[in-house]
Amino acid sequence: MYRGLAFAAIASLTGSVLASSLKVPKLQAPACPHKGTISYSRSVPDLDPFPLTQVDLCYTDTSIEITFTAYNETNFFFDPAQGTNDDIWAYEVMEAFIYRGTDDPQMYFEYEVNPNNVTYQAFIYNPSKTREPDAPFDHMFVSDPTADGFTATTELDREAETWTSHASIPLGFFNVDVGKARGTNWRFNFFRTVTSPETYPNQELGGWSPPNEASFHETPYFGHVKFI
Ligand SMILES: *[C@@H]1O[C@H](CO)[C@@H](O)[C@H](O)[C@H]1NC(C)=O
Ligand SMILES: *[C@@H]1O[C@H](CO)[C@@H](O)[C@H](O)[C@H]1NC(C)=O
Repeated sequence: MYRGLAFAAIASLTGSVLASSLKVPKLQAPACPHKGTISYSRSVPDLDPFPLTQVDLCYTDTSIEITFTAYNETNFFFDPAQGTNDDIWAYEVMEAFIYRGTDDPQMYFEYEVNPNNVTYQAFIYNPSKTREPDAPFDHMFVSDPTADGFTATTELDREAETWTSHASIPLGFFNVDVGKARGTNWRFNFFRTVTSPETYPNQELGGWSPPNEASFHETPYFGHVKFI
């Protein structure tokens, strides 16, 4: 999640014309251990070069499995004082925005992990779908992700300039019953933030389907994903 910049004027102009006409990327994700893979290397919103970022996606009977790989990572920058559901998005994170369905959602799930293996998980209520400045924008945090079945594991390889996090997210959060994920349709977007002690609080933003402003909360841009 990113809320450092408020391009209010732009947001109110773009909100209404976004929907339906956008071309967004697609991904087919198989049952684990096979994986559907995407990568991105473009910034949000300028489409400038951005450090290569890969996402591998698959599903089990009970979970969505996501492996985030940040290449060309030189900062590994986080605030060690931050814990679960804190504002880890102000530093470096990799993120997945998730919705089961095919339409542009008002309500969706936001998952983030940082290089310190700290996670953020919340349902987002964004009824304008583009976070209009005059519209509600709310978060329903997951209060006990460990008990609910979330797991994350994170590995840093400073020499290879690579940071990898593997996340497991319960399918029940999206009302997918055990063993019923095959054939379901989803909207996802994937993002990464880059900052360093020298540049904080400024961030570089990158995404799989980059919105046209410096915001991640633009659901018409979410890509289409099918669990096959
Ligand atoms: C980015 O990472 C890739 C994969 O590790 C590497 O091949 C490439 O040289 C790196 N590019 C830069 C600019 O460091
Ligand atoms: C990260 O957190 C998980 C719990 O979600 C834990 O199992 C794991 O050992 C932690 N550490 C690393 C380095 O991944």
